[in-house]
Amino acid sequence: MERIFLSPPHMSGDELQLIHKVFESNYIAPLGEYVAKFENSIKNYTKTENALALNSGTSAIHLALRVLGVKADDYVLASTFTFIGSVAPILYQNAKPIFIDSDESWNLSPKLLKEFLEKWDKKMPKALIVTHLYGQMAKIDEIAEICKSYNIALIEDSAESLGASLGNQQSGTFGDFGIFSFNGNKILTTSGGGMLVGKSEELIEKAKFLSTQAKEDFLHYEHKEFGYNYRMSNVLASIGVAQMGVLNERVEKRREIFQRYFENLQDIVDFMPEISGSKGNRWLTTIIFRDDTDIMKIIDRFSSEGIESRPLWKPMHQQPLFADSISYTDGTSEKLFRSGLCLPSGTAMTMEQVDRVSNILKEELS
Ligand SMILES: Cc1ncc(COP(=O)(O)O)c(C=O)c1O
Repeated sequence: MERIFLSPPHMSGDELQLIHKVFESNYIAPLGEYVAKFENSIKNYTKTENALALNSGTSAIHLALRVLGVKADDYVLASTFTFIGSVAPILYQNAKPIFIDSDESWNLSPKLLKEFLEKWDKKMPKALIVTHLYGQMAKIDEIAEICKSYNIALIEDSAESLGASLGNQQSGTFGDFGIFSFNGNKILTTSGGGMLVGKSEELIEKAKFLSTQAKEDFLHYEHKEFGYNYRMSNVLASIGVAQMGVLNERVEKRREIFQRYFENLQDIVDFMPEISGSKGNRWLTTIIFRDDTDIMKIIDRFSSEGIESRPLWKPMHQQPLFADSISYTDGTSEKLFRSGLCLPSGTAMTMEQVDRVSNILKEELS
């Protein structure tokens, strides 16, 4: 039986050729021309001035916090409905997360964010990390406005939303920083990797310095502060360059897959919305059940048919790791977690496969 994965890597066909070129030049690592080419490609696509290729999206968020000067006992606001990679870097800095709930967009609620800040009487949070979940845009213009009025730095976690936009502006370019992930399950992959983009050339340069062990400009390697080994290799960057060539195609295909699921299933389940004026990349098609449904039973049925599915992210404020953290929630993400499911959405899927998944779900719900 052919196995259908949630979101497996999908190569364009040009990757091996570029990898060969890298090998021929022997610039396997650390750097080489493809690192700059990949950064330029992201800059051109997203219309940003500054980009830094890294070994993961998580390290991109970590560097953003570090160059913003987030330190022990600082507060950092974040979406609660997200993946751990979005918020673990707050702990790397020994800072304290404050989790904000979602609204009907499934993404961070600007209303709750504002309410929270109006009541908050302790030290002002230094930054907000907002996730554009499952490739769908958060209400980022409203969120950016609130951050501006409170002088809170804005980091967009666009790990899942490369190619999504609000108006004419790309995900990842509204805040002080944006990050992308090229992990194996993302819309584009370099097998593993990330990118930090930002408005300030100075801060991106600082992040670059920290990403290569904070070596001062001496042949003997002098250190005034510590950094990390976070830079992307030339081999992986060459995969990224080839993948960027098919980004628009991949976005359209994910949206077609969503549309087909929607047509098949709209009478029996609800889908993650797309906020007005935005275009998501529909990285994963995600649904919620209308009635009490045993999600594990459906996941098991899919599994027995060779189909991978997964519950929605468990909100961070419900994670044992964050049992003592501050959160401002109204039950929205908890309800989504209880009643939702991610469906296979890989861009190599055929419409017959989408129909097969849909039919199994219909059978299970009938
Ligand atoms: C929302 C979100 N944030 C952060 C990350 C971390 O990215 P990476 O796996 O490249 O570290 C991911 C993906 O893995 C993610 O989905």
